[in-house]
This record gives sequence, C-alpha cells and structure tokens, in this order.
Amino acid sequence: MLFLISFFQLVLLVQSLEPFVYDVNFAGAIGDGESDDTEAFKNAWYVVCSSYISSGIFRVPHGQKFLLQPLTFNGNYYYYFHIFFNFMILFTKFRVIQIDGILIAPSDPSSWKCKDTNCNNWITFQHFDGLIIQGTGSLHGQGQKWWKMGCIQNKVGFAILDSKNVHISGLTSVNSRKWHISIERSSFVHASKLNIKAPKDSPSTDGIRIEHSTNVTLASSIIKTGDDCIEIGDGSKYININRIFCGLGHGISIGSLGKNGRKETVEYVTIRRANFYTTKNGVRIKTWQGGHGYARHIRFERLSFNRVTRPIIIDQYSCPTHQRITAVEISNILYNDLKGTTNSEIAVEILCSESVPCKNIRMKDI
Ligand SMILES: *[C@@H]1O[C@H](CO)[C@@H](O)[C@H](O)[C@H]1NC(C)=O
Repeated sequence: MLFLISFFQLVLLVQSLEPFVYDVNFAGAIGDGESDDTEAFKNAWYVVCSSYISSGIFRVPHGQKFLLQPLTFNGNYYYYFHIFFNFMILFTKFRVIQIDGILIAPSDPSSWKCKDTNCNNWITFQHFDGLIIQGTGSLHGQGQKWWKMGCIQNKVGFAILDSKNVHISGLTSVNSRKWHISIERSSFVHASKLNIKAPKDSPSTDGIRIEHSTNVTLASSIIKTGDDCIEIGDGSKYININRIFCGLGHGISIGSLGKNGRKETVEYVTIRRANFYTTKNGVRIKTWQGGHGYARHIRFERLSFNRVTRPIIIDQYSCPTHQRITAVEISNILYNDLKGTTNSEIAVEILCSESVPCKNIRMKDI
C-alpha cells in the first residue's frame, strides 16, 4: 500500500514536468555550414532519447547551418531505458525532433563518409514507435554533383524505416541526391505541409516514396522535382493522399510493380484533390509483364491538371518485347471528377494485358 501511494505521487510529479529542450549546440554542434556536426548530433540524440522521465525535444535551432554526414536516429535506444524504468513508458512514447535550422549534406561524393548503418541514406529514422519531426527548417541534399554521375543506387535523403506512429510536418527538402523522402516498412505515418524541390531535369529525384507500409497519409504538400512527386511501391496498403501540388516531373505513380517476375501488391489507395502542373504524367499505374500480384481498390478523385502530357495512364505492358502470360492484376480503379488540360493528343492511355485484363475500371466526370 505504501508503495502504491508513493508510486502515484511519482506519477503526478512526472506529469508536471515540462518536456525539456535539448539544443544540438549544447552537444557541441557549431552550425557554421562547414564544420562536421555529425558527432554532436549523435551525442545530442543520445541525451534526448535516454531521458526517460520527461519527453525530450531534440532541437536544431533556426539561423544556423549544420553540415551532416550520413546519420541514423535510432528509436531503439530509449526502449532499453524503458526496460529499466518500464513503469515510465506512458510518459515517453513520443519523441520530438524540432528542425528549425538548415541541414546540409556533403556536396562532393568523395567527401561522403559513413561509419554507420544505412549508408545509402543521408538521414535515417529507424525503429521508432512515436516520433514527431517538425519545424520550419530545411534539408539541403546538395545532389548536383551526384546527378552527373549517372546511375546511382537507392540514395535517399530522409528515410523513415521500420517505424510506427510518425508525424512529419513543415519541413523543406531541396536537391536530394536521389529520392527525397522514403517511408519503408512503417505504419501510421502522417506527413503534411512539406515542400520538396529539385530541378526539372534532375534524375530520379522523386519526392516521396512509400514501400511495405500501411496507413500512411500525405497531405497539404508541394512537390516539384525531376521525377515522380509520389511513388507508391510494393506492399503499400491504406494510403491516403490529399491536397498535393505536383509540378515539373513525372506525376504520381503506383508501381512499377512485378518487375523480374516478382509478386508485388498495392491496395486501398486514395488520391484526392491533387493539382498537377506541367508534369509528364498525371496519375499512372504501371506494372511489368511476367509479374504477379495486384494493384486494386484505388481511387483518384477531384484531381486537376494543367498542361500535363498524359493525365491518366494504366500500363500493364512494361517491357513489351517479352510476351508473357502472367501479369499484375489491376482491378477496382475509380476515376472521379478529373479535370484540366493536356499538351498532347492522347490524354487517357489504358493499356491492359490480354492474358490478365484490367477489371472494373470506372470513370466519372472526366
Ligand atoms: C488502417 O486504415 C484502414 C482504413 O482506414 C483501417 O480500416 C485499418 O483498421 C487501419 N489499420 C489499423 C491496424 O488500424
């Protein structure tokens, strides 16, 4: 009994504590845009995530530029503390990363140093359950020299991996080496008010990619890049996309799925109220011949197009030289209230396979 009373007193005490703010400068970050601040960020993160009593805020202050090598924020750290102090778990669920300053990646491929895991990504968030990434700051991927190197594999600016309950909002991402933001093997991710920019001719600078993830929402964001604004890949389920401005590059893409005979699936995707401006494609579903799996229960609603080359595409014929009998099934696709202008003669292109034809494609108010 005595123990219980003191336990509840402790609970009250903990609830009354303010979250503490830990600035990266406290851990020795210089923020002049030239000194390498990677170690300071790691140390600051260690302090924040090992604070088990009140939730800490990791802050990158406004008005400074921090040069960072590849860096992983690991959500696991603080679970170790929870094992010790597991009765505190209620108070520490969400970690906050407040980015108001500018983060810059090394501009020269030869100065890219990585001792960590996830070396292909610039900044990785992994193994979180409860993370808020927010602020008015920006991420400068400095991809210009990489773009000239031709084929570069799987390079990501900001990666959210193996996590759930992640909210990301407000940030700007500029000139990533390749994909700007990648969400992989995660669930309950909510991204909004993002601003993503790269030149029209920059290769593979996709805005946001989603793979092997469920219950992901992307809302109210502006994406103008050289490649897809959003790419929804294998294993995506319950994806909601709302109020996106998509400019310059290739539009919003589901797939491609089923390359090299793989079984890949996407279902329950809703794309609503998106505006497309001078993109090559609008909304595209693309699958490979010889693949397996499906793309189904997909809704496109209230979209507008301004001088888009091909606003609506379904293409089950990637790789047309090899006639194969299998295909990724495409079914239950709804296009409702799509309007606008194109700059080509063919606005709608539906190329369905003969062996596994598309099923239940509905169009209304086009
Ligand atoms: C994910 O979202 C769908 C659709 O909104 C919902 O039916 C489902 O229950 C959600 N998943 C979980 C695990 O809550």
